[in-house]
Amino acid sequence: MRKIVIAGNWKMFKTQAESRAFLTGFLPHLEDTPSSREVVLCPPFTDLIVLSQSLHGSRVKLGAQNVHWEESGAYTGEIAANMLTEVGVRYVIIGHSERRQYFGETDATVNLRLKAAQKSGLTPILCVGETKQQRDAGHTESIIINQLKQGLVEIDQTNLIIAYEPIWAIGTGDTCESSEANRVIGLIRSQLTHPLVSIQYGGSVKPNNIDEIMAQPEIDGVLVGGASLEADSFARIVNYTII
Ligand code: PGA
Repeated sequence: MRKIVIAGNWKMFKTQAESRAFLTGFLPHLEDTPSSREVVLCPPFTDLIVLSQSLHGSRVKLGAQNVHWEESGAYTGEIAANMLTEVGVRYVIIGHSERRQYFGETDATVNLRLKAAQKSGLTPILCVGETKQQRDAGHTESIIINQLKQGLVEIDQTNLIIAYEPIWAIGTGDTCESSEANRVIGLIRSQLTHPLVSIQYGGSVKPNNIDEIMAQPEIDGVLVGGASLEADSFARIVNYTII
């Protein structure tokens, strides 16, 4: 069976004090969450240690938002995989559209980061998705197939999560229709060699659309930005109702 993975991407939000306050509000909501749902928080690097300590013994797993491909070196502003695993990180988001758009991430660097993550035992969450312009031009399928083809060269698909994140739906409140997200995720699955890769949807996932999204047969979880910053709202997403 494919794993359900619900991950919060905090982006550049929350100090250590704020992340502690989040957990106080969030953790009690997990008492009745089905154990089949993997819950992941991806905070800024500086919050990882405090969360790792506070989450000890809890079911919530830690994720990072980036990882460099070298084990160490003169790479100002980057982070190495063993620095993440040392503090208990299990997942890492790679190739988020904000990294591609603002920080020059390419399919080639995405591929290098994926390899480094897997080599150190991290599970990468590879983000793919098209812009509004590409969608309007009818290029959604070719863009995504190309991102996968280049990003997944020599990648072990037994330790991989993919997130379909249409860029026009990120942070805009403009969610992709769940049936359309289901269709594109089906297309992504058809490009893979391993049948059990979990594929998430991401882009304006909220408490009021999570049930419908998770009712789609191809969607194995969600990657949540804005709505993961508030304990009650992320708890509602994690505790989605099966409809
Ligand atoms: P959003 O972000 O939920 O705020 O749209 C999703 C993401 O960037 O992963």
